[in-house]
Amino acid sequence: MRVYFAPLQGYTESFQRLAHRQVIGGCAEYYRPFIRLERGEFRRRDLAELSDGDLDSVPQALARSYDEAFRISELVSSHGFRRLDLNFGCPFPKVVSGGYGSGILGNADAVRDVLRVVEAFPDLSYSVKLRLGQSSVDESKSLIPLLNDTRLCQVVMNPRLGRQGFGGEADWAAYEAFAGQIRHDMIANGDMLTKDDASRFSAVMIGRGLLGNPLLGVELSEGVAIEGGKRIELLRMYHRAMVANLGGIEQPLQKLKTVWDYFLPDAKGRLRKAVIKSRTLDEYLGCVEALFDSLGSEWASGDLRY
Ligand SMILES: Cc1cc2nc3c(=O)[nH]c(=O)nc-3n(C[C@H](O)[C@H](O)[C@H](O)COP(=O)(O)O)c2cc1C
Repeated sequence: MRVYFAPLQGYTESFQRLAHRQVIGGCAEYYRPFIRLERGEFRRRDLAELSDGDLDSVPQALARSYDEAFRISELVSSHGFRRLDLNFGCPFPKVVSGGYGSGILGNADAVRDVLRVVEAFPDLSYSVKLRLGQSSVDESKSLIPLLNDTRLCQVVMNPRLGRQGFGGEADWAAYEAFAGQIRHDMIANGDMLTKDDASRFSAVMIGRGLLGNPLLGVELSEGVAIEGGKRIELLRMYHRAMVANLGGIEQPLQKLKTVWDYFLPDAKGRLRKAVIKSRTLDEYLGCVEALFDSLGSEWASGDLRY
């Protein structure tokens, strides 16, 4: 099975992605959170992230016109990237109301306009990440011929409507119907937290499940189970690599605390709270080590899911 790391704005940033690749791996590609233009300019933090040298990862464009898609393609090409994903799935209301993300899916002319960019950059390999529609499954259905006529290396689908946000049920029957008519490689995305959730697909993209259990990808792609002490050691090393990768920034503590929004959700509440409440980096690191030390007995007793 091929596993792809999903992009999560605010979470899958360079420090996290590089640590995962260095210590754990198992992912065919790491997608980066979207790049967008604001009043005609690139955001400074997008430019800083893009300069991390991780050229094997996949940048993503949030664009609603050929011109915007062109400028983002030009930017990633000039940095040396060979891939670009086009985001037609972001459901955040501000994004959707501007005609971006899943807000573009009901406007086939705008989608066609964005996709024209593929012809302008023959050296870039493009993919699309989308939803079933913003308000109706018919939106993605009507895009099938256009997607099939476009040079894409793969299509990622989270089978929800944009208006569902990240809640509600995914419609896997609609996914199968869509995937059956797409000539490109299809990647299933959404709600995969365990090996069982992913097992019926040949390619999956996982976000929150991998941030929660960073070993899920390698276990799925290599068909192995990493257990006990080895598991804890890898998680410790992954966390240490994230800390090291944040070495140069001013407020590493704030960034590190966001990791725990998803990381190891079943780890003991008391120790987890101490990590999140810590006031200095030293205090934080001590609390994290205590939490890792506690995992051994929790896993041995079967209290911990991962
Ligand atoms: C906080 C947050 C930020 C996200 N940022 C992006 C993004 O920048 N680009 C994108 O394509 N998807 C983004 N997503 C969607 C995820 O990539 C993914 O499609 C979604 O979380 C469903 O997969 P999962 O259930 O495996 O997490 C984001 C999701 C969340 C919760």
